[in-house]
Amino acid sequence: MARRAIVYCGDPVLARKARRIREIGEDLHELLADMEETMLAADGLGLAAAQVGVPIAAVTIRQGPDVEEVLALINPEIVEAEGEQVGTEACLSLPTLRGIVVRPRRVVVEAFDPTGRPITIEGEGLMARCLAHELDHLAGTLFIDVVRPETLVWVRPDETEEAGYREEATTVEEARAAFERLRQPSEGR
Ligand code: NI
Repeated sequence: MARRAIVYCGDPVLARKARRIREIGEDLHELLADMEETMLAADGLGLAAAQVGVPIAAVTIRQGPDVEEVLALINPEIVEAEGEQVGTEACLSLPTLRGIVVRPRRVVVEAFDPTGRPITIEGEGLMARCLAHELDHLAGTLFIDVVRPETLVWVRPDETEEAGYREEATTVEEARAAFERLRQPSEGR
């Protein structure tokens, strides 16, 4: 396993519709293992393959913030969505940004596991949010595209705050520009 570089908002790979996977082989297993390692190292709850630069329909998802058990889903699709939940979201491709996104309260996802077996996952609450967020990535959609714009904030470390950080309001446009600048130094390698 190896950790891979996470690509940031503004990289065209994140806006592409993911290709369906037709063959499960060694390369895919290696990618999934790398995604799991990359996600856990970054303390993320989920990761889509596009976030490590590979625009195919694969995601890794953690069962919860305190759980290291990881689900790897191939060609996942939401087949049922129910209700509504309003909550804060973040993304490893938009580091330190947070905002409120409305998601279904419950989803049912059909996918294939890494051995090629069909699986059905039912998620409620945080798991439903996580599945909806990761499956959005497969359509080329980031949370900044669906966030309630007035709730978008930067989370800045701040020792003087009890929480250890403070929130600073921003706009979708400002945030996109900031990630564009973050992305520039790695261009042209
Ligand atoms: Ni994300």
